[in-house]
Amino acid sequence: TDAQFQQHFDDKIAADISIEAKDWMPDAYRRNLIRQIGQHAHSEVVGMLPEANWLTRAPSLRRKAVLLAKVQDEAGHGLYLYSAAETLGCTRQDIYQKMLAGQMKYSSIFNYPTLNWADIGVIGWLVDGAAIVNQVALCRASYGPYARAMVKICKEESFHQRQGYEAVMVMAQGSEAQKAMLQDAINRFWWPALMMFGPNDSDSPHSAQSMAWKIKRHSNDELRQKFIDNTVPQLEALGMTAPDADLAWDEASGHYRFGEIDWAELHEVIQGRGQCNHERLQAKRKAWDDGSWVRDGAMAHASKRAANAA
Ligand code: ACO
Repeated sequence: TDAQFQQHFDDKIAADISIEAKDWMPDAYRRNLIRQIGQHAHSEVVGMLPEANWLTRAPSLRRKAVLLAKVQDEAGHGLYLYSAAETLGCTRQDIYQKMLAGQMKYSSIFNYPTLNWADIGVIGWLVDGAAIVNQVALCRASYGPYARAMVKICKEESFHQRQGYEAVMVMAQGSEAQKAMLQDAINRFWWPALMMFGPNDSDSPHSAQSMAWKIKRHSNDELRQKFIDNTVPQLEALGMTAPDADLAWDEASGHYRFGEIDWAELHEVIQGRGQCNHERLQAKRKAWDDGSWVRDGAMAHASKRAANAA
């Protein structure tokens, strides 16, 4: 009976036994995972755009090769995540079209422009750094195909974070103009990176259920705090500052205190009114349309082969 299936599912969650694609699961668990994994996949592929903007203008061949590898990794992450989502019974085509139509989200962070080369280093360091903190926790998510995809993704993200930090270290030791460019990039990406972790726990509609199902192992605020605690010493090592007058070490709690996030800004970006939302979706729609001859060709080839086989 359904009650027995539910009991079996609950027992597995309680015992930290992963849920696999063919196992029974509550519809709401399945829907929630398609939502989260789908959004996550969309973030990976939309996230290629701001960095791709600098591929042709990287300052050296070495920087270009590294950035090219990183952007390709992001495409790969999108593919693993779309595959993980498909194990839940949705089709990639369907969720991708929903993203293009603005009916499914992707991370707010990719709606900010990349204005100069320092932005690329700062994205690797802060944005991929934030992504790792969030994704290491997801390596233990209760849904097996998602958790396993995360393991490989985290290994690659840590290379991304290191390449970003290495690039900003070089700029931090450079000329006054380079230092100023780096500080400007940090000023623009600091708060948006903190917003990647989502709303405060008290305003996060999915958190309680996702934590009960062990999809999320830590709350939005816990992970944001962990990211800040990791990152401030790195910021200090660079000799740079954060655009937050309230940022300070708190001896009593053993954590950094930080200022209030501009939640109205996050809300606007999530609602599609950020600086680059329109441009990002336009680029993805154009890529979809421009690729139609490839899809048509593949379909024609498949149907000819099927006819020949018959
Ligand atoms: N950008 C866009 N949407 C967001 C963001 C954000 N930074 N933060 C929260 N939201 C959305 C949620 O998706 C949810 O929308 P929905 O109900 O329409 O689906 C809504 O705001 C409410 O937020 P929560 O209840 O906190 O949602 P959730 O429990 O899903 O937590 C989080 C949000 C932490 C982002 C979670 O979905 C997650 O861990 N996702 C996987 C990681 C991920 O997607 N990373 C992408 C960036 S990393 C990278 O690609 C390099």
